[in-house]
Amino acid sequence: MCGIVGYTGKALALSPVLEGLRRLEYRGYDSAGIALVVTKGAPLWIEKRAGKLSNLEDSLGDVIPDAHSGIGHTRWATHGGPTDTNAHPHLDNEGKLALIHNGIIENYVELRELLEKRGHIFTSETDTESVVHLLSDARKAHNGDLAAAMREVCAELRGSFTLLAIHADEPGRIVGARRNSPLVVGVGDGENFLASDVSAFIAHTKRALELGQDEVVDITSTSIVVTDLMGNILTPREYEISWDASAAERGGFPHFMLKEIYEQPKSIADTLIGRTQGLNSEITAGINLEGISKVVIIACGTAYHAGLVGKYAIEKWANVPVDVELASEYRYREPAVDSSTLVIPISQSGETMDTLMALRYAKSHGARIFAVCNTNGSTIPRESDAVLYTHAGPEIAVASTKAFATQLIAMYLLGLHLGRVRGAIDEKTSIEIGNELALLPAKVEQILETVEPLRSLTREFKDSTSMLFLGRHVGYPTALEGALKLKELAYMHAEGFAGGELKHGPIALIENGTPVIAIMPPSNSLLYEKMVSNVQEVKARGAVVIAIGDSDLSSAAHNIRIPTSHEYLQPVLAVVPLQVIAYEMAIARGNDVDQPRNLAKSVTVE
Ligand code: F6R
Repeated sequence: MCGIVGYTGKALALSPVLEGLRRLEYRGYDSAGIALVVTKGAPLWIEKRAGKLSNLEDSLGDVIPDAHSGIGHTRWATHGGPTDTNAHPHLDNEGKLALIHNGIIENYVELRELLEKRGHIFTSETDTESVVHLLSDARKAHNGDLAAAMREVCAELRGSFTLLAIHADEPGRIVGARRNSPLVVGVGDGENFLASDVSAFIAHTKRALELGQDEVVDITSTSIVVTDLMGNILTPREYEISWDASAAERGGFPHFMLKEIYEQPKSIADTLIGRTQGLNSEITAGINLEGISKVVIIACGTAYHAGLVGKYAIEKWANVPVDVELASEYRYREPAVDSSTLVIPISQSGETMDTLMALRYAKSHGARIFAVCNTNGSTIPRESDAVLYTHAGPEIAVASTKAFATQLIAMYLLGLHLGRVRGAIDEKTSIEIGNELALLPAKVEQILETVEPLRSLTREFKDSTSMLFLGRHVGYPTALEGALKLKELAYMHAEGFAGGELKHGPIALIENGTPVIAIMPPSNSLLYEKMVSNVQEVKARGAVVIAIGDSDLSSAAHNIRIPTSHEYLQPVLAVVPLQVIAYEMAIARGNDVDQPRNLAKSVTVE
């Protein structure tokens, strides 16, 4: 949601700002804009357009303003529709102060009333515009000190925000601030960057600074000053970005999603390295895992599905009760949580507001927090006691694929680790499972080599109005994930069910020709026969069954084979064809694969 870029340095600013916005496109947006300081003291140069970044580029033509600092924004509309006027940056009434914003200002109505009484003229329907007028007044009150003005304004705002501001009187200076919304600093050589995430500047520098809650950053091409809202100077943590620009490019694939599906063997292998026989003390140093009475996993969407698989594994191997909660529901029902509860937030981005708020609720009630996250320097790991980083690399496509695979791996690693800490799993079993985990990258590779027939199979169902997914045990969350992928990408009604639950209602949905994807348990599992019966039940009512499993099912119209695996690890394999089906269906239905409609990659509002 909303991409934010700031550049100050030796280069002409338009190019790094546009490039940064391009790299942040994946976050989801519906308008874009840029403001640059061209001539000191004169009104700022500004261009903004509804729609895709290409609309903005078209309106720029060949113009390259002679500016060495500026800010750019991709907006995902919340307050006010996606129009040219509502697009960011927003300007003060003199046209000399420009502001971009990600998040929601909750007290914008009262601020707007106050500012209109003071004579400010508003031109948009956004919550953001209140902030630019407020900042303009504050800057005057602080004799032109934009950073001091930003500190004062932030203290008056309620809600969540990343803000970046420039002023025409100070070419080369950008001031930013953050609360509950991401902002990182890129440290360059004679140039510095501010952005929603590191992919915006990864082509220029691998050095990044982490910013904390309620911090204000003031940059020029050669200086970076970070303070709290009182003006106290802080020393931010610097870290090295471990991937390079090519990781955030398509590398010959037609879509990021397909590239990311094919990257899964590597992502899984990277996440497993050195961890199968226990998590090292560097990871667990900040957390006491003894004496836990309950585990609560909090997450959203795909990450929630990984958590559901985690419940099966952690309960089995660590013998501790596990609840899996939708983060958006968790804190509002005031759940019982205390210091004997281990809370595991799972998040690819590390910035999902619902998950962050649930984490904070649990933390304020004394829970121990062990995050699973893919993004170094993001808010969720920073606010957790310990973090198990997944090593999926940058995930650009909105629909999560390789991040899910690595979140599953993280669940297994945590389950095994807790099992050892609690003495609930014997060494032989944990070594056996560790060895099975190590086989997964090659098995996923094998599936990817044989997915070609899925293309024509998917086309067969392209005009279906609905598709159902069935699974049992860990196959049930896998079914939920398959249905979510199809909804997101094909814009088709899709639902996942537990096989045993069918006859309690959902079977009424089956009619002649309804496609049903059955995730078959491994053929040596006790549940295999039960699932065969569930397939018979839907087939008898006209369903066309596509079975995913390690052996062919004679009652299925189509069989998709995956290698045999440990029962609990099977979701890592079974989800791969489901991802490919959703991808192919999006193509067959002419949909935008990497940026499906209405969705954003990083959901930074509640
Ligand atoms: C689905 C998808 C979303 C995310 C969810 C949580 O393909 O990507 O459902 O899984 O928004 O995001 P993170 O993991 O960043 O907290």
